[in-house]
Amino acid sequence: MGRIMKVVIDADLCQGHGRCFSIAPIIFDFDELGNGVVIGVGSLTPETIDLARLAQANCPEHAIFIEESS
Ligand code: F3S
Repeated sequence: MGRIMKVVIDADLCQGHGRCFSIAPIIFDFDELGNGVVIGVGSLTPETIDLARLAQANCPEHAIFIEESS
Protein backbone atom coordinates (compact mmCIF):
# COMPACT_ATOMS: atom_id res chain seq x y z
CA MET A 1 0.00 0.00 0.00
CA GLY A 2 1.18 3.49 -0.69
CA ARG A 3 4.15 2.44 -2.70
CA ILE A 4 6.28 5.26 -4.03
CA MET A 5 8.17 4.84 -7.27
CA LYS A 6 11.37 6.80 -7.66
CA VAL A 7 13.84 7.07 -10.49
CA VAL A 8 17.56 7.50 -9.99
CA ILE A 9 20.58 7.80 -12.25
CA ASP A 10 23.79 6.08 -11.24
CA ALA A 11 26.34 8.82 -11.83
CA ASP A 12 29.15 6.28 -12.05
CA LEU A 13 27.44 4.56 -14.98
CA CYS A 14 26.11 7.59 -16.85
CA GLN A 15 28.24 8.56 -19.83
CA GLY A 16 26.14 11.50 -20.97
CA HIS A 17 24.35 9.91 -23.90
CA GLY A 18 21.46 12.26 -23.22
CA ARG A 19 18.60 10.04 -24.21
CA CYS A 20 16.97 10.36 -20.81
CA PHE A 21 16.50 14.12 -20.88
CA SER A 22 15.64 14.04 -24.58
CA ILE A 23 12.91 11.47 -24.03
CA ALA A 24 11.65 12.72 -20.67
CA PRO A 25 12.64 16.35 -19.99
CA ILE A 26 9.99 16.58 -17.28
CA ILE A 27 11.86 13.92 -15.30
CA PHE A 28 15.53 14.44 -16.23
CA ASP A 29 17.90 17.34 -16.72
CA PHE A 30 21.63 17.46 -17.37
CA ASP A 31 24.52 18.84 -15.38
CA GLU A 32 27.45 21.00 -16.44
CA LEU A 33 29.23 17.93 -17.83
CA GLY A 34 26.21 16.91 -19.89
CA ASN A 35 25.45 13.95 -17.71
CA GLY A 36 21.88 13.12 -16.86
CA VAL A 37 20.43 14.05 -13.51
CA VAL A 38 17.01 13.47 -12.01
CA ILE A 39 14.93 16.58 -11.42
CA GLY A 40 14.06 16.95 -7.74
CA VAL A 41 13.85 13.72 -5.77
CA GLY A 42 12.72 11.66 -8.75
CA SER A 43 9.30 10.71 -7.47
CA LEU A 44 7.19 9.21 -10.23
CA THR A 45 3.47 9.44 -10.71
CA PRO A 46 1.15 7.15 -12.66
CA GLU A 47 1.46 9.72 -15.44
CA THR A 48 5.27 9.72 -15.57
CA ILE A 49 6.16 6.10 -14.80
CA ASP A 50 5.88 4.92 -18.40
CA LEU A 51 8.03 7.80 -19.59
CA ALA A 52 10.64 6.93 -16.98
CA ARG A 53 10.58 3.30 -18.09
CA LEU A 54 11.01 4.37 -21.71
CA ALA A 55 14.04 6.46 -20.78
CA GLN A 56 15.40 3.56 -18.75
CA ALA A 57 15.05 1.22 -21.72
CA ASN A 58 16.86 3.68 -23.96
CA CYS A 59 19.88 4.40 -21.76
CA PRO A 60 22.83 2.65 -23.43
CA GLU A 61 24.72 2.47 -20.14
CA HIS A 62 21.80 1.02 -18.13
CA ALA A 63 22.38 3.83 -15.66
CA ILE A 64 18.73 4.49 -14.88
CA PHE A 65 17.02 2.62 -12.07
CA ILE A 66 13.41 2.69 -10.98
CA GLU A 67 12.98 1.83 -7.33
CA GLU A 68 10.00 1.06 -5.22
CA SER A 69 9.83 2.25 -1.66
CA SER A 70 7.02 2.22 0.86
FE1 F3S B 1 23.32 9.18 -18.86
FE2 F3S B 1 21.90 7.24 -19.85
FE3 F3S B 1 20.90 9.65 -19.65
S1 F3S B 1 24.08 7.53 -20.15
S2 F3S B 1 22.61 11.03 -19.89
S3 F3S B 1 21.51 8.33 -17.96
S4 F3S B 1 20.61 8.24 -21.33
